[in-house]
Parts: sequence; structure tokens; C-alpha cells
Amino acid sequence: MPGFRRWGKSRFQKNPESSFKLLAAVLIITLYLIIKEFSSPPIHVPNSYNVGADIQYKAWQNGTEHADTEKATAVRDAMKYTFWKYRQSAWGYDDVRPVSGEGANSRNGWGAFIVDSSTTLALMGLYDELALCVQHIIAIDFTKTEDLVDPFETTIRYLGGLVSLVDLADAGLVPENIINAEARGLILQQAVTLANSLGPAYDTPTGMPYPRVNFNTSEGVPDPPSVYIEHPERPRYDNPVIGPARTGSSILEARTLTRLTGDPIYAKNATMAWAPMVWNKWITPWKGMVDAPIDIVTGQPVGRQRHWDSGHDSYYEYLVKMTLLSPPADPYMKDYKSRFLDAATSLRTHLASRSAPAPSHTMQHLFIGRQDAQWFLNKQSHLACFAPGTLLLASKHYLEPDLHTFALALLEACHHTYTSTPSKIGPEAWSWVPKFGYDDPIYLPSTNRQKKEWETSGFWSTDAAYKGRPEYLESLFYAWRITGEQRYRDWAWEAFQALETHCKAPFGYAGLSDVYRPNGPGAGWVDEQESYWASETLKYAYLVFAAKEVASLDRWVFSTEGHLFRMIR
Ligand SMILES: *[C@@H]1O[C@H](CO)[C@@H](O)[C@H](O)[C@H]1NC(C)=O
Ligand SMILES: *[C@@H]1O[C@H](CO)[C@@H](O)[C@H](O)[C@H]1NC(C)=O
Ligand SMILES: *[C@@H]1O[C@H](CO)[C@@H](O)[C@H](O)[C@H]1NC(C)=O
Repeated sequence: MPGFRRWGKSRFQKNPESSFKLLAAVLIITLYLIIKEFSSPPIHVPNSYNVGADIQYKAWQNGTEHADTEKATAVRDAMKYTFWKYRQSAWGYDDVRPVSGEGANSRNGWGAFIVDSSTTLALMGLYDELALCVQHIIAIDFTKTEDLVDPFETTIRYLGGLVSLVDLADAGLVPENIINAEARGLILQQAVTLANSLGPAYDTPTGMPYPRVNFNTSEGVPDPPSVYIEHPERPRYDNPVIGPARTGSSILEARTLTRLTGDPIYAKNATMAWAPMVWNKWITPWKGMVDAPIDIVTGQPVGRQRHWDSGHDSYYEYLVKMTLLSPPADPYMKDYKSRFLDAATSLRTHLASRSAPAPSHTMQHLFIGRQDAQWFLNKQSHLACFAPGTLLLASKHYLEPDLHTFALALLEACHHTYTSTPSKIGPEAWSWVPKFGYDDPIYLPSTNRQKKEWETSGFWSTDAAYKGRPEYLESLFYAWRITGEQRYRDWAWEAFQALETHCKAPFGYAGLSDVYRPNGPGAGWVDEQESYWASETLKYAYLVFAAKEVASLDRWVFSTEGHLFRMIR
């Protein structure tokens, strides 16, 4: 079990008799912990909950906790538009291309949009639409696919969606005529089938998953050559390697599936998958943070990248969320908590970076950079704007007021990237001149455009695209529900209106090639709409304006794909 990884061998070697006693004691304790974790019967608590957590703001005044119906309806209308355009032109494909209306498959062709959007439809009460999804979901053959299967994407989008749908039904949030007992059973069976088909991913010496699974042969396999064609700069290693997010973002889905089925294997495999990071043996210079990428055969890092941004993000997110999802008595929760708090401290000490004032912009903003070996990279991506939300959640759950202040400062910086562009949508990635510590930063504005952006806003875009991403709205949702401050609702409304203005296309919501150049309708649209647009971006926007009881953070834990699971505490 993972806990063993922290104990050195030496203490077993001093005296054979005492080593034997120690070993016996260790075995008994381990057995006890295993039995304790997994012996409880499957927990079904329809229409009620055990005790939840105290996360949401409670001192609401003047009716601010009520829904802002007009704005919530506007977001719901955007979801309806998204759904029906997909339904009419690409039903059954993974996604619709929002400009041309073509169907596109990049998630094994099982209809990723349908599964991913279903939990948003349920929360919005769009039941006619949800009924169509349920019909499709119970008919998918999850054992067959043309392509290799990516365990990470498949777990967060498909498995998470299925398991969440069962939880929503069990909580009484879906009418009986949309998901009755039989349909519930079939959806859960689909989740089991899919999870079992992904099983071979975990057949590695460490339990860290293979990058892909071949469903024809039921074998885990390395990254396909296409990955190296897309990323020619990527080094080749002896064994398959994996990043923290890809191996550390299945425990919420798996733990919930274990609760729903009573089968411990899902939680066990997910625990092993992130164990080399949680209980790592190697020395990391910064407490709580892991170096990556990691060799799945040895469990050792083969690179020295260390950050909370793309590819690492949801490992840290799942550490704190797991301690909310699980009963506190579950083994390892203390370890997850201390690991998270250490990583948050390291983020704050080593990666948070205040921007130096620029000629026409004297305000400073707190961005987050990355570390690669000895280099600090003064570059943040939109994905890292998940961090404020996750840190706010942790600050409330662990009663850490410093994290609260830190998180709101990071959120202000993400807000600044949105309000600084002509479209009022933030770019995919940006850089700044650090105020402290770096006389010679890695990135400086070089083109005229970059210099101009830097002079007027204190940062410059390094990738000016928008890809339908949710992280900013996600953090605004946490900020609104945790602080109750109106400004976060206002910011969310501004962002939503900008998306409505610039991204709405004939068959859905398009990406933008350049958030600084929204040149008239349709100019610069990117013909892609990833399923997270429906499962996250629109869901979080809606929840900001919904009543505070809808998907309360006191009762539900959101996955990194925006699917929500009940806390059973
Ligand atoms: C609620 O309304 C009262 C009276 O108008 C006002 O004094 C108070 O500041 C308001 N509280 C909030 C949180 O807006
Ligand atoms: C699996 O088998 C089918 C049918 O023979 C084939 O079309 C598909 O390419 C195979 N998939 C992989 C990943 O090899
Ligand atoms: C669990 O992991 C084992 C390898 O340790 C693997 O053989 C099995 O298929 C996995 N099962 C599931 C459901 O993940």
C-alpha cells in the first residue's frame, strides 16, 4: 500500500525478532485500514445526505443569495442553443464544428458531447434534452472503438459524466420519468463496463497508468507516434512517461464508482495511480510539489518541471477535493491534506510572481509562473486560472485565511487578462515582467505588438487564442459562493456577455484565433467546440446566477471536467 513508501528499510534490519513484530503490526494495521475503507456496503442515500461540509458563504443579506433569474436564463438559453445545434447537425459524434456544422470525433466516437453535457442539462432542468442524452448513453458500446483510448480524457469526460448522472438521480435532482430505476441501473452498468475496459491501463509496475489503452487487445500502450508529430520538441524516454494531472485525476470518479458499486477496485487502482506522487520517495526541493514527467515503470521523475499549470493542475485540485468527497475516517485523508497545503505554500512562495508596473499601467498583478529545472518561466496559461477556485475551496475547508487572500489576488489577475483585451476575453497564455527576483527574466516582450500590449496592461499575450475554456468562470463560481461578493457575479456576467458576442456561431460557440482582434462577426472564429464548453464553461456561468442551493458546495464536489459527486461524509 502507498503508506509503506515512506518507511525506510533500515529499521527492519536491526533485530530479527523486533523486526518480525514490527512487520506483523504493520500488516495488521494495513489490513485494518483496507477493511475499514472497503468493508462498508454501497451507500445509497436517495433524497438526503449525510453531513456535508461548511464551504459556502452563510451571511447573505438583502436577498443576494437568490437566483438572478434573468441572467441565469440567458446562460440556460446559450446551453439550449449549444445542445440543439449539436443535436441537429452532429448527433452521435463527439462534437460539432460550430462554424461549418460538421461532426468531429476525437474522443473515440462514443458521443463525448452527449455524456459531457448531461450533468449540465440536469442542473439547468433541461429535461427533454437530458432524456435524449440518456437514450443515447445506455446504447453506447464502450467496449469497441477504432482508436486507442486515452485513460485520462476518458475518465474525466465519460466516466465522470456517467457516475455523476447516477449521483444526481440518486439525490432526487432528475425526475423519475427521465431516469427511472432501470435507466439508473443501465447508466451505472455503462460506467462499470467503461471502467473495467480501462483497467489494463493500470497494469504497470507502479500502478501509474499507461498513456493509452488498446481496447482490441486489452493492453496498455505508450503514446502513439502522433503525439510526437504534434509535439516534435518532446523528448523520447526509455519507458512511457506521464504528467501529474494525467495520473492524478481519477480518484474522485473512481471513489464515487466504488461507493455506488461497493467494488473497492476502482478506488484502489486510482490510489495506486497517484501514490508515487503523494508518497514520493524522491527529494523534491519544494515541499508538496512533484517533478515531472514521471516514468510509469520506475515511478521516478525524468524531467524537472514543477508548477500548477497545464499538465500538472488537476493533481493538486484532486488532493483537496478528495478530502471533501470522502469521509474523514478514510485512510490517507490526512496525507492528502498536508500534501495539498504544502503544495499551496510552495506555489505561493516559489511560483506566484508580482508583475512590475508598465509605462501606461502602474497596477501590479499576481500571476503564476512555472519552474523548469533551474529556470523560472514567467508565463501563465488560462488553464492555471482554476487555481483561485481550488485555493478558495481549500481555505474554507481547512480554515486557512491566508490562502483565501492569496486566491483572490490570483483571481484578480485572471480578471485583468479578460478586461484588458478588446473582446473582453482573456488569452490562452501570457507573460509579464516580474517585479521581484529576476533581473533577467526568461521572456521579455519582443515584437511591437507584445511591447504595446505590455505597455498598456502590464502583460502581453504569448498565445492570443480563446479555446472555450472554463477556468476563469469556474473560479468566479467558487468566489461567488464562498465570499458572497456581488463583484464576482458582475465579472461573470461581463465574461458571459463577451462569449455571447464573439463566440456564438451558426452551429454552436466557436473558439477565437485572437482575443485582441474580434474583427466583426465571424472573423477569427476557430471551428472547434470542445465538450468542456457544455460540461464546464456554461455550467459554471449558470451556477453563478442560480440560487445558492443549486449544486451547493456544502454538498457536492466538482471534478476537473465539471461533473459533480455527492460528499458522503
Ligand atoms: C443590505 O441593505 C442595507 C440597507 O439598504 C445596506 O445598508 C447593506 O449594506 C446591504 N448589505 C449588503 C451586503 O449589500
Ligand atoms: C481495432 O479493431 C478494429 C477492427 O478490426 C480496427 O478497425 C481498429 O483500427 C483497431 N483499433 C486499434 C487501436 O488497433
Ligand atoms: C486494476 O489494476 C490492475 C493492475 O494492478 C488491472 O489488472 C485491473 O484491470 C485494474 N482494474 C480496474 C477496474 O481498473
